[in-house]
Amino acid sequence: MKSGRSIPGAYRAESALTVNGYSEKWLRQGFPWVYPNEVTAGRARPGELVRLLSPSGVVLGTALADDGWIAARRFRDDDGPLDAAFVRTRVEAAWALRNGVLPPETTAWRLVNAENDDLPGVRVDVWGTQVVITLDAAALSPLLDPLADAVEALLAPSAILLAWRPDPREKDRPTPPPRVLRGASEAEERVTERGVTFLVRPGAGKDVGLFPDMRDNRGWLAPHWRGRTLLNLFAHTGAFSVAAAKEGAETVTVDLSQGYLDRAAANFAANGLPPGELLAEDSFKALDRLRRQGRKFDRVLLDPPGHSHSKDGTWSGEQDYARLVAAALRVLPSGGWLIAASNLGSVSPHRFQGMLVNGARKADRRLRMVHDGSQPPDFPAALHFPEGRYLKFVVCAAD
Ligand SMILES: C[S@@+](CC[C@H](N)C(=O)[O-])C[C@H]1O[C@@H](n2cnc3c(N)ncnc32)[C@H](O)[C@@H]1O
Repeated sequence: MKSGRSIPGAYRAESALTVNGYSEKWLRQGFPWVYPNEVTAGRARPGELVRLLSPSGVVLGTALADDGWIAARRFRDDDGPLDAAFVRTRVEAAWALRNGVLPPETTAWRLVNAENDDLPGVRVDVWGTQVVITLDAAALSPLLDPLADAVEALLAPSAILLAWRPDPREKDRPTPPPRVLRGASEAEERVTERGVTFLVRPGAGKDVGLFPDMRDNRGWLAPHWRGRTLLNLFAHTGAFSVAAAKEGAETVTVDLSQGYLDRAAANFAANGLPPGELLAEDSFKALDRLRRQGRKFDRVLLDPPGHSHSKDGTWSGEQDYARLVAAALRVLPSGGWLIAASNLGSVSPHRFQGMLVNGARKADRRLRMVHDGSQPPDFPAALHFPEGRYLKFVVCAAD
């Protein structure tokens, strides 16, 4: 695939793609993607700048063409240039949205949230002194230098890294490893979230080790931990467990991966805390064993991935959630809290609630929502981009 053309001083589209009426309607509402079956005329190489035209020839914007499941990502709704000054303006607007809304003692946050900040396919994450630019596709490479320049001018980071976001819809596209674009990158960086320390690896692609989009949900829970027991399932590097232990909870932390649990232990240690129980196990198996042992927990937290495979079976966040809720309720006493999250964009908040209701029904219990959370302000969800609000985070008291 040819792409990677850099942006000269004034970079205007020479080619054009004509889209159908359906795409025109969405583009006019602010939706930034054109799908291949919506293009009715014109061709462009991936990474080529194109003008988008309505069926009647009206300019609908300027986009970068691609050859995957998206045919073009629109960056502006006129036919102006996509140059360094334009990219800098967008990054500065994203910074203005974050400035003053992050909690104190918080050094891991998102500067650019892709489509939701009018920079489709582009994420910029700050990990302490380092910054990672993550692109959805090689077709976005022309933006790299102007993005790095804008980030450097705003934040003067010690290193800027480039990572690629694998897309499950494009399994055949190779995802190159992350690399350092500028400066010198330390493999491990110490960041804080409301004063809680986490050790992250900015250059590790999807294994950085912290999900800052959960920050406000951890913040909401903070006053509710003292003297409670927490069973944290699908715990990854233990961020919820560490935040809970810091507030006085006793924790049992479960993840399939011993590697992630080793990192959880290091996160506990970084905060001067003992690690509690760490169990390298399938969450369903752990729930079954804990139930047979008669153990109960004041809070059970479920934050599974969309999909996973293990020797104990396959997990699907769409198919299996109700079964997981039912199993979790068997170790949750009456009055305990079920804390359930899903980051699947394909599952609406309404549908997610239905999954919880089904799970409760299977276990012959009832749930009452005491908190409905989502993403923090540095992960804004553009209302004209339905995929932008992906995170569901529901706290329910169980009867
Ligand atoms: C979305 S991450 C959880 C994020 C975590 N709650 C946090 O805030 O950092 C999903 C985790 O589930 C783990 N996992 C996947 N399938 C599992 C299973 N069947 N049982 C236990 N853990 C599993 C993965 O290893 C991964 O660490």
